[in-house]
Amino acid sequence: MTTGSLLAADLVLAVLAAAGWLGGGAASAARRRPLALGLAAFALLATLARAITIAALARAGWWFAAEKVLVAAPLSLAAVAVAGPRLLRAPGDIRSAAVPLLFAGYAVGGGLLVTVLHGYPVSAGAGLLAVAGTVAATAMSWRVLGRRPTRTVSRAALVVAVAALVTGTGLTVAPNAAPGVPHDHEYRDARTVGEPTGRVTLTAGTATVRVSGRDVAAWAFNGQVPGPELTATVGDVLEVTLRNRDIARGVTLHWHGYDVPNGQDGVPGVTQAAVLPGQEFVYRFRADQVGTYWYHTHAVSDVGVRMGLYGVLVVRPAPVTGVDVTVPVHTLAGLPLPAPRTEPVEAGVPVRLRLINTDSTTHRYALAGTPFRVAAIDGSDLRGSTSLVDTAVLIPAGGRYDLVFTGPATPVALFVDGRAVYSTGPVTAATGTWPVLDPLTYGVAAPVRWSRYDKEFTLVLDRGLDLSGLLPRYAHTVNGAAAPDIPPQVVRLGDIVRFTIVNRSTAVHPWHLHGHHVLVLSRDGRPATGSPLWLDSFDVRPGDVWEVAFRADNPGTWANHCHNLPHADAGMTLHLMYS
Ligand code: C2O
Ligand code: CU
Repeated sequence: MTTGSLLAADLVLAVLAAAGWLGGGAASAARRRPLALGLAAFALLATLARAITIAALARAGWWFAAEKVLVAAPLSLAAVAVAGPRLLRAPGDIRSAAVPLLFAGYAVGGGLLVTVLHGYPVSAGAGLLAVAGTVAATAMSWRVLGRRPTRTVSRAALVVAVAALVTGTGLTVAPNAAPGVPHDHEYRDARTVGEPTGRVTLTAGTATVRVSGRDVAAWAFNGQVPGPELTATVGDVLEVTLRNRDIARGVTLHWHGYDVPNGQDGVPGVTQAAVLPGQEFVYRFRADQVGTYWYHTHAVSDVGVRMGLYGVLVVRPAPVTGVDVTVPVHTLAGLPLPAPRTEPVEAGVPVRLRLINTDSTTHRYALAGTPFRVAAIDGSDLRGSTSLVDTAVLIPAGGRYDLVFTGPATPVALFVDGRAVYSTGPVTAATGTWPVLDPLTYGVAAPVRWSRYDKEFTLVLDRGLDLSGLLPRYAHTVNGAAAPDIPPQVVRLGDIVRFTIVNRSTAVHPWHLHGHHVLVLSRDGRPATGSPLWLDSFDVRPGDVWEVAFRADNPGTWANHCHNLPHADAGMTLHLMYS
């Protein structure tokens, strides 16, 4: 079982346990004895079964097993301790078991709410609030069921509830350190790289485009989705003029995976102001990284990219030899792009397929009909990549894989999530059961690059209630906070930085740091043993722990965020800053 499914199972058990206890309480209040006993027994089983899921999570290296043991387990034990004996004693009047059973339900439910709403890190404040809620709800039920508790009992309950409530609230809303991300500094202009060798204008505007025979409303660069493919030879100086015709919420250009100077990075409010209708902005940078990249708007990026404001950027070491195809995968209005394309390739011709995932979720790619190598990931060539056959690759949101092969005499086809996207002739293949390549064990390792780190950061990715804005929201959080309240990571030029990214939530978070490529050190405690992997986008799955490192060699203020763009907009964005 994966950590993700264990987490889901534990959640289901907790919900079942809470429902069972509450249902049992209600049934005994209604004097439905068999039903009450049945539900309570069921709840007891579910509560005990959580011991198994929690132990399995701990064994799988889930970082937060301790917190389950500290919060969920005591509340569950209290529930069993209070409700259990009542049931076993089989009292004459089943109604007397109602309040203990309800207490058990409130306790388990309280633990569940803390987990789901409060997220990481679980604080004493949240724990006390859960206790206050449980006690208050129990006292209420006691009154409603008309079995007046003695004066001492009600006074004690009142004192506990009020004390827990006051302390818990105090601890929870206590102000924490101001984050201090500059969102209004002077934007640096680094357009000092010499005369451009290529000039392009990209005009953003609303458009109607044709996808799979349907007219679809889109936001497009130069009227097309994807926007024009930008190509360069290494060393070129690119100049791209961005104009906004009528995108009311503004546009920018971010060069995803391209480590441009900070002023060219295209993050509104951080490196430039969003380009509003009628305005323009000129980007200029030297193309000194070879490989497959893409560009996209970073203004309301969730909507903007989804609506079509993206395109391919390819930088080649030399003029193309052989066949060189880009496959930018996207979902526009629910329809898959690009349209399938078939073109014969002569046997013996070298082919490079540049796979790009511009969506917010992972895609599965399978190349059938030929052995192939993964030559590069996220623009960086792999070392000693070996030949693969009948193997799928998973590309995270924002990620790129370059597959290379020599055209065979028989047809070849590339499937994305089972759909043929590119082929050299008719191929039928069931690729759904193919094993998936683990890039951490692919290729040949290089000597260890860094042995000490100047800075270390840990990012715990989670979900939780965010009350710091105007309206409360169920945010995607980093270390318990949501943008713009996540403290920035501050480094100095030249620092070797290590950061550990842990996913405590039940969703996949494709992580993306701007302006730098990170070297993967380990995942889930297992060191990367394949080719050095320099990534800019990688999927942190539920329960995953990734250790990555980079050299702080590109000064500025850089977005560091989840590339599931709805998550990024719902809080999961922080910044890397140079002091
Ligand atoms: Cu591809 Cu911050 O983005
Ligand atoms: Cu995410």
